[in-house]
Amino acid sequence: MEIRYNILFISVLFSILATCTIQDDTMTVDQVLQNGYTLVSANRMYELGFFSPGRSSNRYLGIWFKNISPQTVVWVANRAIPITDSSGVFRLVTNGSLLVSAGSNNTTVWSSNTSLVFPTTINPVAQLLNTGNLVVREKGEEGFIWQSFDYPGDTFLPGMKLGKDLVSGIDRRFTAWKSDDDPSPSEFVTFMETNGFPQLFETQGSVPHSRTGPWNGVTFNGFPNRQANSIFSYEFVFNDKEVYFSYTVNTSIIARVTLSPDGIFNSFNWVDQVRHWSTYWSAIPDMCSGFGRCGPNGVCNAQNSSLCSCMAGFEPRKLDEWSASQWSSGCQRRKPLDCPNGDGFRAFKNVKLPDTRHSWYNRSMTLDECAAACKSNCTCTAYANIEITRGGSGCLRWFGDLTDVRTVVESQDLYVRMAKSDATITEYKSEPNSNKKRRTIIVVGTISSCILVMVMLGIAIAYLWRKKTRYLVKSPDGGFRRTNIDKVYYSMKSQHDGDGDGDYDNDNDDDTDTELSYYSLAQVLKATKDFSNENKLGEGGFGSVYMGILDDGREIAVKRLSKSSGQGINEFKNELKFIAKLQHRNLVKLLGYCNEGDESMLIYEYMPNKSLDFFIFDKRRSLTLDWSTRFHIIHEIARGILYLHQDSRLKIVHRDLKASNILLDDDMNPKISDFGLARMFRDHENEANTTRVVGTLGYISPEYAIEGIFSEKSDVFSFGVLVLEIISGKKNRGFSDKKDSDSLLAHAWRLFKEDMALELLSPHMRESSVDSKVLRSIHIGLLCVQHYAKDRPSMAYVVLMFDQDDALPSPKQPAFFTKGTMPKVNQISVNEVTMTELEAR
Ligand SMILES: *[C@@H]1O[C@H](CO)[C@@H](O)[C@H](O)[C@H]1NC(C)=O
Ligand SMILES: *[C@@H]1O[C@H](CO)[C@@H](O)[C@H](O)[C@H]1NC(C)=O
Ligand SMILES: *[C@@H]1O[C@H](CO)[C@@H](O)[C@H](O)[C@H]1NC(C)=O
Ligand SMILES: *[C@@H]1O[C@H](CO)[C@@H](O)[C@H](O)[C@H]1NC(C)=O
Ligand SMILES: *[C@@H]1O[C@H](CO)[C@@H](O)[C@H](O)[C@H]1NC(C)=O
Ligand SMILES: *[C@@H]1O[C@H](CO)[C@@H](O)[C@H](O)[C@H]1NC(C)=O
Ligand SMILES: *[C@@H]1O[C@H](CO)[C@@H](O)[C@H](O)[C@H]1NC(C)=O
Ligand SMILES: *[C@@H]1O[C@H](CO)[C@@H](O)[C@H](O)[C@H]1NC(C)=O
Repeated sequence: MEIRYNILFISVLFSILATCTIQDDTMTVDQVLQNGYTLVSANRMYELGFFSPGRSSNRYLGIWFKNISPQTVVWVANRAIPITDSSGVFRLVTNGSLLVSAGSNNTTVWSSNTSLVFPTTINPVAQLLNTGNLVVREKGEEGFIWQSFDYPGDTFLPGMKLGKDLVSGIDRRFTAWKSDDDPSPSEFVTFMETNGFPQLFETQGSVPHSRTGPWNGVTFNGFPNRQANSIFSYEFVFNDKEVYFSYTVNTSIIARVTLSPDGIFNSFNWVDQVRHWSTYWSAIPDMCSGFGRCGPNGVCNAQNSSLCSCMAGFEPRKLDEWSASQWSSGCQRRKPLDCPNGDGFRAFKNVKLPDTRHSWYNRSMTLDECAAACKSNCTCTAYANIEITRGGSGCLRWFGDLTDVRTVVESQDLYVRMAKSDATITEYKSEPNSNKKRRTIIVVGTISSCILVMVMLGIAIAYLWRKKTRYLVKSPDGGFRRTNIDKVYYSMKSQHDGDGDGDYDNDNDDDTDTELSYYSLAQVLKATKDFSNENKLGEGGFGSVYMGILDDGREIAVKRLSKSSGQGINEFKNELKFIAKLQHRNLVKLLGYCNEGDESMLIYEYMPNKSLDFFIFDKRRSLTLDWSTRFHIIHEIARGILYLHQDSRLKIVHRDLKASNILLDDDMNPKISDFGLARMFRDHENEANTTRVVGTLGYISPEYAIEGIFSEKSDVFSFGVLVLEIISGKKNRGFSDKKDSDSLLAHAWRLFKEDMALELLSPHMRESSVDSKVLRSIHIGLLCVQHYAKDRPSMAYVVLMFDQDDALPSPKQPAFFTKGTMPKVNQISVNEVTMTELEAR
């Protein structure tokens, strides 16, 4: 009897151990996975278990990257049905189904619905593979009975397929999360549309939201060529059995593509040195990406201030609506067709091909055959090649209206049927020579052309927003009222009688709808304890800055325009004008403003960690910044500046980049602040001249200090100085060294020339750093501070250099601000603000 109990006890113990110690990647039918236990893939990259997303306390069964923090979830089982306590269990049942159940009744909240195929499967196992794929299969067999890759959520991992299995009918669609805290499916769904020729389609609810063009052999039509890069390689497969898009990465790289809650695909690669996901590309929408923006037969041009126009040969269907910028009714033919007798075709270059849902295709036809086929059928309205490779091949034909056409940088030609008098092609012969040339350019597309495309997209986005001029302003009573930001300027102007200055251009047609809150003076006084001294954070360019706490507990920083500052009002307006329009995670965020009586204030998010100078130049605090944090800061500042220079819809030169203008949030993410001296450049304008040199010594470039010429390259110079300061922990200005160097730049240059650049590194970081990264950063810093502006890299190139490992060009000698050259600066008229800046720092 006793022995029996012992055996029973031991077997119970064993089964408990079996359930509690699932540590490898496989689970069998007997095992149960509870909260706190996980499966880990054999390569230790992915982990499966129960988790709580973001700030939510709900529990979900999911898969995430094991060694990446913050937790990055790639797949969720019970997306729509959260478990509210820790009672959830995950198990594989004998019929091969995976089950997640919870509650005292073990209610099933999710099931994989798998059924085994007897007699081939009798002993199912579940395994988390090295790819992040959770599979069910017969023990020891290759094939899968079920796999999580067939049921994607918002994350597209390397090796997953976006598309359809035409045999089994499995449709792998991506659905965004509702928010970072809620993985339940949002209304954004991206899928492979297989009506007509396949294209990627995104819907919002039941409404088409956006689409790519068809795959052209290299990329999706209408998208920049993303083939030419060192991280992602793409594949599009379309045959009788399946149609899908997929990608792979070099195994040394951790990457993911994620559909954000607002429906935007972003691709990321993990940068281990800074423990940070770096955005590789974003499908950032612009004014033309909304599906069918310009209606049938309209063409959207993001760079044109009127956005929509009709295709040549077409005219607005409803002129009155069209001229009121309501484009949905689209365009109709100006002259009726006369088929089959008198029609011709007209070639449209560089347009995204129309929606292919109603297209016909034949992948083996040539362009000539395609033209003949389209001509001979009077309902055919347009044709084009499918692929740009192999000299152009395949035939796409459209019937009826052409929708969602937009101008793009590079595309195969679209041939549209026209009445003979509007047509340019009445003989059907393609032009193989010119085509071949163009194709070569596309196929050989390099990274630089990629950048060019991005720059152009940036400009496009900049341009298209120009139209809107109004701001939504939250009025004190909580409602919104529309106001023109310039009214705010003017009302301040009349109160302060600020003088105009050539440097502050007053164009007022460049604003976007930005939600700026209005704060009443009473609110601000309460938050800052009547501007008490203990709340004072410091002095900014044009007044004092105070910390405050709003009634709802939010912390704010209040910049109060000093009444005595003459130049201040201009800088204040300048700041309001720029910062309100800019949104980037590396720029400080403006929450609102207050303008009451003779008080003018800007309200920002509060940055608890103050500014960069507070850390790097302080003996004690600098010890808390290890190398990877510093590298992260450098990298993020670069991204912030890149945004200012080209990714935002304005082209902005900051003109006062320095350590004290880089604020740090809780997680030591840098935020560029103080746009009081920023200057917007118009399109095609590259440099400007001023008689009033503003900025801070130690950071201003030679051409600006000496000749008053500034450009993006002056910011690049300041950035280079920042890089060297962050690495060395020493100020450029006021630098002294036992040896003969009298500036940090000279010192860095000398060490670099003598192959001793690592000595620049502040000693406490020598252990935490990676030599090659440090050297590369110093090298990039030196490239940025080269004497001649033309030698300095653009910020786009700087970011690229940080992201890649290609060989770097050799820097030329930097600009040395030696005591000999310094006095020249003072010969230029320098305003009082600058003087104080010069003295203060
Ligand atoms: C458990 O099941 C019983 C009866 O089936 C039901 O009354 C009860 O509400 C269930 N409890 C939970 C937490 O689902
Ligand atoms: C619920 O599941 C647990 C764990 O497998 C098991 O011990 C318990 O008996 C189950 N309860 C019910 C009511 O099925
Ligand atoms: C399993 O089947 C049920 C009922 O048919 C369905 O509601 C559920 O969504 C299915 N689960 C999965 C993961 O497909
Ligand atoms: C598999 O078994 C579970 C529990 O035993 C059941 O809930 C589920 O419906 C079964 N699935 C199929 C596909 O038969
Ligand atoms: C993967 O990356 C490593 C390091 O960057 C490189 O040496 C290797 O050639 C790459 N492999 C492939 C297949 O691209
Ligand atoms: C810009 O829009 C106007 C008016 O619709 C149109 O005439 C013009 O052709 C467009 N320009 C470009 C480059 O598309
Ligand atoms: C496609 O075109 C080729 C060449 O004209 C022809 O032989 C073939 O039958 C066509 N295929 C289909 C499915 O129409
Ligand atoms: C023209 O094309 C349409 C496809 O929409 C087809 O239904 C019709 O039969 C074709 N007509 C001729 C004459 O081939």
